[in-house]
Parts: sequence; C-alpha cells; structure tokens
Amino acid sequence: MSNLISDEKITEILERCGKGKEAAIPILQGIQDVVGYVPRDAMNYVVANSNIDAVQLYGVVTFYTQFRLKPIGKNVIKVCHGTACHVAGAVEITNALRDELGLKGEDDTTEDNMFTVEDVACLGCCSLAPVIMIGSDTHGKLTPKSVRKIVKDFKKKEAEEK
Ligand code: FES
Repeated sequence: MSNLISDEKITEILERCGKGKEAAIPILQGIQDVVGYVPRDAMNYVVANSNIDAVQLYGVVTFYTQFRLKPIGKNVIKVCHGTACHVAGAVEITNALRDELGLKGEDDTTEDNMFTVEDVACLGCCSLAPVIMIGSDTHGKLTPKSVRKIVKDFKKKEAEEK
C-alpha cells in the first residue's frame, strides 16, 4: 500500500499493461502518471503482484531517465547543459540557481517542494545560451546575477498569486 497510489489503482495498471517483465516500462509510466514519480512502496507492490522481480524493476526504473524515484517540485526548472550553453557558462548558472534555491549536495528538489532543477541536453534555442526554462517560459543570455533575479521574481509572483 502506497500513501500516494492505492493498491486498486496499481492493480488496474497491472491489468492494463500485463504482468511480465516486458510490461515494466508501461507499468512504471502508469504509476508515475498518477503520482508524479515512482514511490518505492508502489514498486514493492508491483514485485509482489507480477512476474517482474525486484532486480528487473529496479534496473528499468534506474536505467531510463524519464523515471523519477523522488517527488518532483511544483515548478521544474530545466537548465540547459548542451554544448552552446556549456561554453556560455551553464555550470555557473547552475551553481547560482542551486544556491539561490538553497539546494545542497545531490538534492534536485527544494524542501518546500516548490522547485525541481533538471539538467537537460538542449532546449533548442542555442543562440540564447546559456538558457533555462521555468515551466514553459524560456530565459536566455543568463548570468549568475540574472538567474538569481529570475528566481526571486518568480517566487514573488507565486506568493502574490496565493
Ligand atoms: S545548447 Fe542550450 S539551448 Fe541548445
């Protein structure tokens, strides 16, 4: 039993996708579509109620970058680390962004679950490098100072809308 997805819902996903190891990807996608990530207890339920063993399921969930094992924040900030952005300072942008959000170590999601920072390969607007996206808004030609301001302004706007 997961707090975030019921046994009945997982059973429904298993019935729809099948219970063999070839169904591992659609099962995990089904769970992630409901919860936003793949909780460990949901994976345990799948292992106990299918023909997929824990090693197979864990192998799939960790191999494909589409799957998340941790909750995702309300707002996803995509930081481009493609070649153009890398050359234009993506690492410095990432460091400033993470610092502004208070992210430490391996964390990619803020404690209040407001933001998740994701590295991506190319956002398709290399002439604006370095680039980030918050939701569907693209911000380019960034500096460490400007990215901090973008985050501050975004937080302020969110607070005003509450
Ligand atoms: S490399 Fe960053 S947008 Fe293309």
